[in-house]
Amino acid sequence: MSNERGSATLEGTELDFDVTAVGPTGRPLRDFPEPPELDSHGPARVIAMVNQKGGVGKTTSTINLGAALAEYGRKVLLVDFDPQGALSAGLGTNPHELDVTVYNVLMDRKVSIRDAIRKTDVPNLDLLPANIDLSAAEVQLVNEVAREQVLERALKKVEDDYDVILIDCQPSLGLLTVNALTAAHGVIIPLICEFFALRAVALLVETIEKVQDRLNPRLQVDGVLATMYDSRTLHSREVISRLVEAFGDKVFETVIKRTIKFADATVAAEPITSYAGNHAGADAYRRLAKELVARGGAP
Ligand SMILES: Nc1ncnc2c1ncn2[C@@H]1O[C@H](COP(=O)(O)OP(=O)(O)OP(=O)(O)O)[C@@H](O)[C@H]1O
Ligand SMILES: [Mg+2]
Repeated sequence: MSNERGSATLEGTELDFDVTAVGPTGRPLRDFPEPPELDSHGPARVIAMVNQKGGVGKTTSTINLGAALAEYGRKVLLVDFDPQGALSAGLGTNPHELDVTVYNVLMDRKVSIRDAIRKTDVPNLDLLPANIDLSAAEVQLVNEVAREQVLERALKKVEDDYDVILIDCQPSLGLLTVNALTAAHGVIIPLICEFFALRAVALLVETIEKVQDRLNPRLQVDGVLATMYDSRTLHSREVISRLVEAFGDKVFETVIKRTIKFADATVAAEPITSYAGNHAGADAYRRLAKELVARGGAP
């Protein structure tokens, strides 16, 4: 949202008004409608949160977009697909204490995905957790038949239980991330508003195109999400201009500002929508959820 405000004086009263009414992506600011109530649930649209660069907001966006969609009555499954287990920890699960995780679901056909899925404290929001065990999967999967489709096969079993499945990928373009892209209908690319972050995107787009060609022709880029935006810096604004130049309308109008509240919510092991439901950060992810639904990226 534009921060450039002006003021005028009308018979001695100072009025504050928005000079530009233009959002950070250069498009006019507008509201997205509340997502309509769903009469029935499933089959799920699967969305992978991908960027091989670390620390760009993949996990934060998975938790909070998921929680916002759940608030709007969508049944949401979050898949932790990072051996670091940050998504699991961020939802109050201690990944080290888990016996059955996504790793077991991938590697052992006798393990049912339903035995690994857990409810979270947020209504409509479930979690398929991960822990460090998953780091072995990358190597072990190499010898599997149809090694790129292992996650897709597992998720098929529960696709009718959910409206949206969000996969939080690790910062790599290895076999696990390729599994996520193969299982997905759409990709969201979270991108931190710093110049060096732009460089990673070319390789990511190349990987997405390869997966579209060889494994998953239905895969599409749902959007590029600018994160950790600081409207006070020219730098942040320039990065967004460059993003819009490169990706056009694929850049979400919703931009996530930099705020310490996200780290606080992680410590509290809750989505920001419940930890600080009135905070601008919570509203930003609600707006993203509405924008995603309005674009057809989620039911
Ligand atoms: N909008 C934001 N403003 C300020 N801090 C943020 C914001 N989004 C995320 N963070 C913080 O930045 C750090 C990295 O975010 P996050 O873990 O979501 O990134 P990631 O892409 O999942 O990282 P990794 O690649 O390591 O998995 C975390 O400490 C998180 O709390
Ligand atoms: Mg992460």
